[in-house]
Amino acid sequence: MNKEPNLLDQIFALRDEQNKARKAGRLIVREEEATLETNRHSTMRWYVHPSFTDLVDHNTLFYRYEIPPMSATGVQHRQGNMVSYVLSGYGYTEVDGVRHPWEAGDVIGLPPRVFGLTYRHVNESNEIAKLVTAEPNLYEALGVEMGAGYNQVSDAPRTGELPPAPKKTATPAPPAGTSRSREGAEIITGRDDYERFLDRHHERAFRAIDGDIVIRGKSLSIQRTRQADSTWFLNSQTVGAPDNTAALQDWDVFMHHIREHTGEHSHQGGLLIYVVSGTGWTNVGDRKVVWKAGDLLLLPITEGGIPHQHFNDGDVETARWIAFIHRPMQDALGSVISLLMDLQEHSH
Ligand SMILES: [Fe+2]
Repeated sequence: MNKEPNLLDQIFALRDEQNKARKAGRLIVREEEATLETNRHSTMRWYVHPSFTDLVDHNTLFYRYEIPPMSATGVQHRQGNMVSYVLSGYGYTEVDGVRHPWEAGDVIGLPPRVFGLTYRHVNESNEIAKLVTAEPNLYEALGVEMGAGYNQVSDAPRTGELPPAPKKTATPAPPAGTSRSREGAEIITGRDDYERFLDRHHERAFRAIDGDIVIRGKSLSIQRTRQADSTWFLNSQTVGAPDNTAALQDWDVFMHHIREHTGEHSHQGGLLIYVVSGTGWTNVGDRKVVWKAGDLLLLPITEGGIPHQHFNDGDVETARWIAFIHRPMQDALGSVISLLMDLQEHSH
């Protein structure tokens, strides 16, 4: 008898299929393997695309804009939630008609907003502006349009021909909360839970409009943490603190400066590490992944999390990488950081 698998069985089958693909999946995308294309929007080098199914995970998309000198990307209107690190060049990002200047070493965070945003990146320098960019792969779960549309407003200009600035699109403020009396056995007076919910909700929405789009690298110091010497651009756990004024609130973006090695810790994978300079390797569970500048390392989603530690192989004094972590995905995985070895504990 050939019985159709029931709906639960189909989920088990999907699990097995995914685990098989994950086991065979690649942990690294080398710079020379990434797919370079010139499309309507820009010249883009794709490291992680929804269609790249041979990778260990593709929950976070990743690409590198390579904007020619004195040129720009096209103008897109779409939902936000993209974060870029500027490797080279200087210029600005125009968001709903407002210019946000940047230079190499800065982070650009485009927040999700109720109507999405209209943006382009403009390179005003005489070198190619390289912007490595991460965004959560929610194209299946929420649809490509993500409640905001997804349109190419205008194509990328030819080199040296900057197009006129796009028209400013008004971003309406969220409606103010209203208080109403309630009927019931117990009437709670004062600020009810809905009001408190609205407060936080509106705080987030306004932050996405009023917060800083660009985090200047020069404004940050290198901190000696117990894992590594680190520069923190975005910190999802300090949202609301006076020193966190970023518009983008759901990402952790930080750079490690590795002289010999980092400490070792364990947490869930499903995040990306882009090598900015130097060469070295990372121990990922019982695997060793060798990397060089321009490569993208993928930490795999693993039952209970994955221990890892990063090493500079000594080619240059300091190897640098930058991590892109979409915190809601880590939370959805129940990720917990377990500290296995501090930086100072390891002696050479
Ligand atoms: Fe880590």
